[in-house]
Amino acid sequence: MEAYQAITGRRSVRRFSRIPVARPLLQKLLYGACLAPAPHHTRPWRFVLLETAEARQRLAEAMGAAWRRDLEADGVAPERIAALLTRSQRQTEEAPALVLACLVAEGLPARPEGGRRWPDERRQRAEWGMAVQSMGCALENILVAAHAEGLAGFWISAPLFCPEAVREALDLPPEYQAQALITLGYPAPDVSPRPRREPDLAKLLTAR
Ligand SMILES: Cc1cc2nc3c(=O)[nH]c(=O)nc-3n(C[C@H](O)[C@H](O)[C@H](O)COP(=O)(O)O)c2cc1C
Repeated sequence: MEAYQAITGRRSVRRFSRIPVARPLLQKLLYGACLAPAPHHTRPWRFVLLETAEARQRLAEAMGAAWRRDLEADGVAPERIAALLTRSQRQTEEAPALVLACLVAEGLPARPEGGRRWPDERRQRAEWGMAVQSMGCALENILVAAHAEGLAGFWISAPLFCPEAVREALDLPPEYQAQALITLGYPAPDVSPRPRREPDLAKLLTAR
């Protein structure tokens, strides 16, 4: 598939057929992720394939507990909390393939693996920002390449809000900073994403 066609055709899909995603195909997509541009020729990413039902359940429960705490503190109604958590837990447990994406970093503000150590917080935050940007590039590579392979998926940002809970649930090293989950699978036959809003270039683009 031609690159621009893959970019424009990719959509977030949240319902999948039961067809499993072959391991070599997943590895091909992750290889593509690792070719993403990143500052200083680094690769400050780690990808964790969540293959066992047990690991997924532990993750879903840990993220659910963290989210419940936030929602309760926000005063959200118990029935609404229950509905949100059920849907989110199902997404984590039932995705045909599930990849957790982490940045590896030390300290606060964080120095990403291979990144620079700056004498001031302003530049250290910018260094961290570059790593986060590169993570976005890597994950978009996965989503676009997945579309070209007839797969689809979507991005789940829940891990970003509870990195400690994720680390603990999956027994990950302390330097792993969870950023996102990517679900992947073959779209359910009746899935048809709503048409996109056309980007308003008059608003989004300025020239000087
Ligand atoms: C950083 C980021 C976080 C996202 N988080 C979520 C999420 O937690 N749950 C979800 O269902 N979709 C999530 N999405 C997917 C967006 O909702 C989706 O990309 C957007 O609605 C545009 O639709 P499209 O991907 O079909 O073009 C996220 C996307 C990005 C880039």
